Amino acid sequence: STLMGCGDVPRVILGSPVAGVAEDEIIDATPAIEEIKNNYLPREEFHNLPRKFKTAISGNSRQDVTHEIQDVAFVGVNHPEYGPGFDCFVGGGLSTNPMLSQSLGAWVPLERVPEVWAGVVGIFRDYGFRRNRNRARLKFLVAKWGIEKFRQVLEEEYLDEPLLDGVPLEVEPGSRDHLGVHRQKDGKFYVGVKPTVGHATGEQLIAIADVAEKFGISRIRTTPMKELLFLDVDEEDIPSLSRALDETGLYSQPSEFRRGVISCTGLEFCKLAHVTTKARAIELVDILEDTLGDLDVPISIALNGCPNACARSQVADIGLKGQIVTDSEGNRVEGFQVHLGGALGLSPDWGRKLRGHKVVADEVPEYVIRLVNKYKEQREEGEQFRHWVLRAAEEDLQ
Ligand code: HEM
Ligand code: SF4
Repeated sequence: STLMGCGDVPRVILGSPVAGVAEDEIIDATPAIEEIKNNYLPREEFHNLPRKFKTAISGNSRQDVTHEIQDVAFVGVNHPEYGPGFDCFVGGGLSTNPMLSQSLGAWVPLERVPEVWAGVVGIFRDYGFRRNRNRARLKFLVAKWGIEKFRQVLEEEYLDEPLLDGVPLEVEPGSRDHLGVHRQKDGKFYVGVKPTVGHATGEQLIAIADVAEKFGISRIRTTPMKELLFLDVDEEDIPSLSRALDETGLYSQPSEFRRGVISCTGLEFCKLAHVTTKARAIELVDILEDTLGDLDVPISIALNGCPNACARSQVADIGLKGQIVTDSEGNRVEGFQVHLGGALGLSPDWGRKLRGHKVVADEVPEYVIRLVNKYKEQREEGEQFRHWVLRAAEEDLQ
């Protein structure tokens, strides 16, 4: 929905793209999202917040909505005593002052999600910092209060009754995207494919719609990892559907480079941007594939047009933050500041900033190739890219 797409309001709620569909779902969050959308969002009390407010609610076992970087997020959890419900996280965000969200340490049943959501928004409205817009996000309040005080104020001033204590969320170690073929609850399958950096032309969209029609598919979903998911596929149709989608320029089996690349809107479409991102990201992946083929481990590469971090550069293996830099001949040109080794999921981290290391935009492909080759040369058995980054010598990262 584009409802409340802008302004100091609760922005569109991110839900699992396969809520109510995926076989491995812990709990379907759809009723809670619908309740918030229909009965809470229209209320004026939520329309004048200190700043934007981002929500994600998903009961999918893949933890597929980047809950670590939302103002508030509810993530499906199976409590040994109470059963399926949600762990609630507050105070995450990126931009120039990135912070990871923290768990309230509570178990929230589906019926109470809207009430708890409204309580968290209420705290933000009443106690959030309004004087300085750069410090007006909920994360600054959570950082100042600490999570214990936050939960206490929430329970005492905003909720009908205290929350039940939860168990710590076990972080899903696997991929969070939905790429590939997955089982649905009803015996059918959904197929996730990737348009590179989520970029598709009008012609491509028409071709994609034609393919969907041919296979009788009427449900297509988008994801925070910028994939397209085709739902309700019969098992025998999977190979021919994947082939037909590949022909439209989508990738059912992308290389790790293509799978892991993400770019923000950038100069082509965003007035805050310093540099072009999408076209550069697409070119970068093509060059990486031509030069290196594939990689045998996941690798995420994020290109941002400015420090706002819409492409989540601080939590990517290779994060590139656009800025104007000076090249070797003294010209002011597009370039990127490099940020390596960030991650969400298991042990989320901001990674290691290479102090002041900047790469001119035209040299980014060369730089990434050098970096990946160094990793391949130096890695130990089973070592992930970001773990290598943490121990690598500074000069090998430049
Ligand atoms: C041209 C349109 C856009 C503009 C003007 C814009 C603007 C911004 C700004 C100003 C911030 C920083 C917020 C802060 O400092 O507190 C931000 C953060 C962010 N944006 Fe965007 N954005 C745009 C498009 C998008 C799109 C299309 C997505 C995703 C599909 C996105 C995802 C994010 C994320 C993940 C963050 C970081 C998380 C956070 O701190 O809230 N943005 N954006
Ligand atoms: S990171 Fe900056 S340039 Fe990119 S979409 Fe966000 S605000 Fe625009």
